[in-house]
Amino acid sequence: MTTPTAASTAGPTTAAPTVSPTAPTAADLLDFARKVAADHALVGELPLDPEGRTWVRLEGPGGAEAWLIGWPPGAETGWHDHGGSYGVFVTAAGELTESSLAVPLPTEGWRSLELAEDLDRERILPEGAGRAFGRSHVHQVENRSPTGHAVSVHAYYPPLPLIRRYSRKGSTLRLELVEKPEEW
Ligand SMILES: [Fe+2]
Repeated sequence: MTTPTAASTAGPTTAAPTVSPTAPTAADLLDFARKVAADHALVGELPLDPEGRTWVRLEGPGGAEAWLIGWPPGAETGWHDHGGSYGVFVTAAGELTESSLAVPLPTEGWRSLELAEDLDRERILPEGAGRAFGRSHVHQVENRSPTGHAVSVHAYYPPLPLIRRYSRKGSTLRLELVEKPEEW
């Protein structure tokens, strides 16, 4: 969950995670995240730090991985994928901005990709707003507020096997780092 500092690692070799027939659906995850986001007592217990993001792990539905995350002003994730998992996030306090791409990207098999024009999408998620995303979703999320913290609820299924982190220069997206669960 930390911001990447290294510039290269070996390429990813892990296959996309398997989804069981009893897996929670995206709607299940969204329902869970909305309920947690509306639980002001729980959201209020998350420690906030002006120097960086904070997080608490939650028990997601059906074995999903879930987190409550605090974002100080200016905090951002950088561009990343979710290792082939699908997921959701809902803003519980403040406002988050998501930058994403209008097309799904293969989660592996490339190191540098030249994006076509007009693929960038941006959506603002104020308190109570959320979204679901598919297994090939690449995005970055930011708290652009100069003064206020944001808090959000995230759920992923299958539990994140890894996160691929990318740099973005103009239209070029480049794989920089593959993070394993023990690294966040
Ligand atoms: Fe993400």
